[in-house]
Amino acid sequence: MTADWEAFFTLHRDLPREGPGEPSDVAWAAATAATPATARICDAACGPGADLAALHAAAPQGHVTALDKHPQFVDQARALHRQDPAMTLHVGDMAEITGPYDLIWCAGALYFLGIADGLKTWRSALAPGGAVAFSEPCWFTDDRAQEAADFWAGEYPAMTDAAGIDAQVRAAGYRTLGTRKLSDSAWEAYYGPLERRVASLSPGDTPQMQQVLDDARREAQIWRTYRDSFGYLLSVVVPDDV
Ligand SMILES: C[S@@+](CC[C@H](N)C(=O)[O-])C[C@H]1O[C@@H](n2cnc3c(N)ncnc32)[C@H](O)[C@@H]1O
Repeated sequence: MTADWEAFFTLHRDLPREGPGEPSDVAWAAATAATPATARICDAACGPGADLAALHAAAPQGHVTALDKHPQFVDQARALHRQDPAMTLHVGDMAEITGPYDLIWCAGALYFLGIADGLKTWRSALAPGGAVAFSEPCWFTDDRAQEAADFWAGEYPAMTDAAGIDAQVRAAGYRTLGTRKLSDSAWEAYYGPLERRVASLSPGDTPQMQQVLDDARREAQIWRTYRDSFGYLLSVVVPDDV
């Protein structure tokens, strides 16, 4: 582990989630995708497992397979759900999932693969009638403050708007069944605990720790200041060839 990852996990250890989201997002996505109660669901890049209970609730007679590339997050998810026979948790690469799955849920992580590339990769992991639900950073207005534009140009230069996301969905051979803007409470579920942790660890005891704290504080501040112009868009998509 590099010094930076040590600092990152000192800040993020045992936080409930690693990006915005709330249980009603999962319920909405499952309803939009008409996910059956017996569904085989994959939580791709599950982080600490914040969405697992809601995914299980969406398919109470089904099974949830959750994976993340970071063992620290998988361990945290296991601590909550290890005993549940309806869930399988493992360390893994979401680019290599095989399925078949009725729903692939991916909260705030598809951009690591690229929207179109990731959806194409997942096509063969979808069961007939299956769907992908993913949340993605998104511009909601054309009027963008320079500070927010500069921040996202550094963090995620490919960030686009709802039409741009839909264009990538179609380029991958899928169509969009529905979209939903994540609510402020979904963001508070992420930034509230993170900001409290930042306060408790400040000032950082190493330059690396201070940098990680400064970055997290700035990210939350950018969202709080400019949240009308950007956020996360949750999309439910299905292959176009079925
Ligand atoms: C912004 S976090 C979101 C985590 C979780 N879905 C949540 O909402 O709390 C992004 C996650 O993607 C994971 N990740 C990135 N690339 C991955 C890959 N190729 N395979 C599996 N996990 C990956 C990271 O480890 C991290 O947990």
